Amino acid sequence: MAILDRSTELKNLDANGQRPNILENRLLTQIYDKPSLRTRLSFNAAMIHLGGQSEFFTASEAGFDGRESLPDIARVVSSISDAVVLRTFSQKRVDEFAAVSQCPVINGLSDEFHPCQALTDFLTIREELGGFTGQHLVYVGDGNNVAASLAIVAAMLGVSMTVACPTGFEICEEVLAAIGQRYSKFSFRQTNDIANAVKDATIIYTDVWASMGQEGEAEVRRKVFAGYQVNEELMSKAPSACRFMHDLPARRGLEVTDGVMDGPQSIVFQQAENRMHLAKGLLAWLIVRSS
Ligand code: CP
Ligand code: NVA
Repeated sequence: MAILDRSTELKNLDANGQRPNILENRLLTQIYDKPSLRTRLSFNAAMIHLGGQSEFFTASEAGFDGRESLPDIARVVSSISDAVVLRTFSQKRVDEFAAVSQCPVINGLSDEFHPCQALTDFLTIREELGGFTGQHLVYVGDGNNVAASLAIVAAMLGVSMTVACPTGFEICEEVLAAIGQRYSKFSFRQTNDIANAVKDATIIYTDVWASMGQEGEAEVRRKVFAGYQVNEELMSKAPSACRFMHDLPARRGLEVTDGVMDGPQSIVFQQAENRMHLAKGLLAWLIVRSS
């Protein structure tokens, strides 16, 4: 909540033409092993707006391909930077980096999690729907990194969540067990019955069927997920006030139709812009908590 509140505060200031220099002389280093539009741009813009700077490396430029050990890279980068954003494959790499880092390490997406996206999405939900009480998030599609992070933040905020997915594509069991242990009151279920799942949805959310790194499975996944497209017919089964969300990039015509993406219930571009506002709130909270 502190991160969401800081993000809203900085977003409101920005709307009034104020971009406080709270990260002046601060350096954010970003190291990415996968492509990115929103995440990289959001963190860059956030640093510029708040008076700091951002440096970018591809993972191979930073030496992830074996030029030196990951802990050695982490020690060097974190001794010179005020915060680091890592986008990589295995979450283990993020954890290994963070274990020896001298500065905060932000997960900019791993195979397992996408926390900046989930935080942004709940910031967007709060703006659009006025709060979290009574919200029911229905995630349709692959129980992937985005779904796992949404479940974690939903549990923290007391938002109920249903995942409608094909058998075998549920959110990772270990993640769900950890959430269940910590947030025993979390209202959560997974089902194959997509039509029934959306009946009382206040938000319908989807993501790509094949994530970065799964390109070789794309054809098979298209068949498995064929019945899980968010289209006008599915939206019509939900209450008319229900919003549509997607973290983007979207594969229009696969997990979502143009009609839904561009329709009146869609808030996907508000989500995308909010990545930047959330990045500001997160960086401010991590680097200068008290100012
Ligand atoms: N949603 C998201 O993380 O987008 P990018 O992959 O473009 O950063
Ligand atoms: N699940 C997607 C999210 C992209 C932002 C992926 O990992 O490719």
